[in-house]
Order: sequence, then C-alpha cells, then structure tokens
Amino acid sequence: MGGPMKVTDRVHWVGALDPDLITFDIIMKTDRGTTYNSYLVKGDNHVALVDTVRAGFEGELLAKLGACVDPARIDYVIVNHSEPDHSGAVAAVLDRAPQATVLGTAKALQFLQEILNRDFSRRAVKPGEVLDLGGVSLRFIPAPFLHWPDTMFTWLDEERMLFSGDVFGAHFADEAMFDDAVTGELWPAVGHYYEAIMGPFAPHVQRGMKAIEGLPVAMICPAHGPIQRRNPARSIEAYRSWSAPASRQKPLAVVCYVSAYGYTRALAAAVTEGMRVGGAEVEMLDLEETTPRDAAAAAARADVVVVGSPTINSSAAPPVAEMLAHLDPFRAKGKVFGAFGSFGWSGEAVDLLMARAGELKMRPVTPGIRASFSPTAEDLDRARAYGTDLVKALTGDQPAH
Ligand code: FEO
Repeated sequence: MGGPMKVTDRVHWVGALDPDLITFDIIMKTDRGTTYNSYLVKGDNHVALVDTVRAGFEGELLAKLGACVDPARIDYVIVNHSEPDHSGAVAAVLDRAPQATVLGTAKALQFLQEILNRDFSRRAVKPGEVLDLGGVSLRFIPAPFLHWPDTMFTWLDEERMLFSGDVFGAHFADEAMFDDAVTGELWPAVGHYYEAIMGPFAPHVQRGMKAIEGLPVAMICPAHGPIQRRNPARSIEAYRSWSAPASRQKPLAVVCYVSAYGYTRALAAAVTEGMRVGGAEVEMLDLEETTPRDAAAAAARADVVVVGSPTINSSAAPPVAEMLAHLDPFRAKGKVFGAFGSFGWSGEAVDLLMARAGELKMRPVTPGIRASFSPTAEDLDRARAYGTDLVKALTGDQPAH
C-alpha cells in the first residue's frame, strides 16, 4: 500500500494505486491499471484535501492522511469533479472531518449530493475565487465539460501547481508517481486518455486551455496517473493541439464495411470512387482488418462517414453495428452519413444503419444503396453517384433527405 508521498513541503499525495484494473468506465482498456489521486495541502491556518479516491480504496486514503495530519483538522474537501472514482471516499473523509466544508462548482455539489445521499457542509465556489490557507492559496477555475459539466481546476499559486482533475490524466499506475521516475512510456497513455475521455469535448478542451493560459505551471497534479513535472507545458500544448479544429484542403471521408463474398466490398469501392470524384480524401476500412473501436476513432475525425454491411439474419453485420456503438454522439453529431450493402432476400441492414445515424444526430443521406446479391453495373453506377452526392451534402449542394 505504501505511505503518503511528499510532493512539496506543503503538498502530499495521499491517493491509491489500482494496478490491476483492466477496464475503466466499462469501456476503456487500462493496460497499466490506474491511480486515484488525492492531494493534501497544508497551509499555516487551514488544511485542504483535493479530490479523494474510488470507493473501496478509502482505507488507503485514510491511512495516508493519518500519517500526514489528524484528519479532523481538514477544513476543506475540494471536489474538482464528482465522478465516483474521485468522490467515492468523500463520505469516509467527512466522517473523520465532520467540520470540513466541501467546495466545488454548484453542479459538482449537486451531483455529490445525489451520490452521497446525505447532508454535508458545502459551498459552491465562484469562478476565480481564491481560498487562503495561510502561506498558500488555492484558486478555482471552472472547466465545464472536461469531461463532465461539474469540473474545475484548482491552482496552487505559491507552488505553481495545477490540480487538474481528469484533465491531462492517464491510466498508468506506477509507485514512483512522478513522470520523471516511472518505468515505461507515460506519454502514449496520456494521449490514449485524451482520446477516450476528453476527445468528445474538444471545443470545451479549447476553452479549458484558454482558462489556464498564462499560468506558470511547474507541476500538473492530475486525478489519474503520475504527477507531471518534467515538462507540463508539453501536456498543455498537446491538449491545445489535439482539440484544435481540423484544417484540411479536402473533406475527409471514412468508409467502414464488411463483406462476406465481395459484393458489399464492390459497392464500397464504387462509393469511394464517387467520393474521390466529388473531391474528398477517402479512407477505406475493412472491419475484418480494423477493429470497430479503431474504425470509430477514424470516423470521429472524418467529415463524412459511410458504412457498408450485408444483411445477415435481418440485421446489420455485428462489426458494423459495433463500430457505430463506439462512435460517440458528441463527435458524430452533424457528420454526413451514408450506408450501403448487398443482401440476399430481405435487406434491412441499410435502413437500420440509417436509423442509428439518426439517433446519433448525424445527417443521413437516404435511402442509401442496396443491391441484391452481386451488384450490377447499374448498381455500381448508382453507388458512384451516391458517393459524389455524399460529398456534395457537406456543402448543402445535395441536401440530406
Ligand atoms: Fe476520473 Fe471522470 O473521473
């Protein structure tokens, strides 16, 4: 379990490692486990705890806390983000620090109430509010939708330390807990975390980076993974760049398909040809070679998403349905969508895929292309024309109908 870790004279890490975690939030693979970071900040007059840990790890948190301070001396529990992997031990802390006040955004306090289902002393902080602990002070910087509506940063000015919540985090457990001391490569885990957790909220990430612009950050103390002190500016710059709107010479289209006998593949090639004629750059992904998750990531970057599936037992093929299940609605919304597929005797797949695109608030260009068994030359001509229409739909020349 280990003891608390000194970060600076005023700040100790009192969180928990969860190295054996293999999946986070049900969907995200975590090869290196994760950590739930909690930080104790001791001022001359007041003591604050920034974030807690997931339920089940409260014993570790309390033991580390007890090695640093009498928990009853904690004056403030700061909730940067109320998701239960960080708020799961708030109740246990409050049991030992009954006079402590929980500080967070109004939304965080509302969510926390619904998580704890008990009374607690609380105060919603104002944007930019400064909390003087005596010799050190904390400033609260709202960062809504990074990645929940409740989130904020906490800035410790005297130590140039940013308690960033999930932002800049990584699922990466290593007892060394500092990025310049861990074993293995942390940076890919930072990128993977961004893509899975923050990527859907890119415009909010842009605003969040704006909110911390100019802060002389010497150390990022995230809620997951090692403390970043080697080059914190690299993470901030990367978040800026990863979340920036794409600027392209040509629109980007992704065609994701499966094909049992080559018939749907022939339609995929024809749709692709039509889109290239229409001026798009096109990436073709056979979902027997590319995982649905990777295909969804490619689709999330595209302007036009086209899927092709044969009809199998009155449904779309599972890899195609799974790819759309991985495509998150925040990133899918507004993209032009097309569907095509070969079928034997019923042919429901295309309509089902169009319906799913509607649920994702994409712009389906209906009715799509269906071909009975092997596509004829005429079917392929229709598919080529459809591809060109999909590109035109981007500019409204061929409105989605
Ligand atoms: Fe690590 Fe969004 O909780």
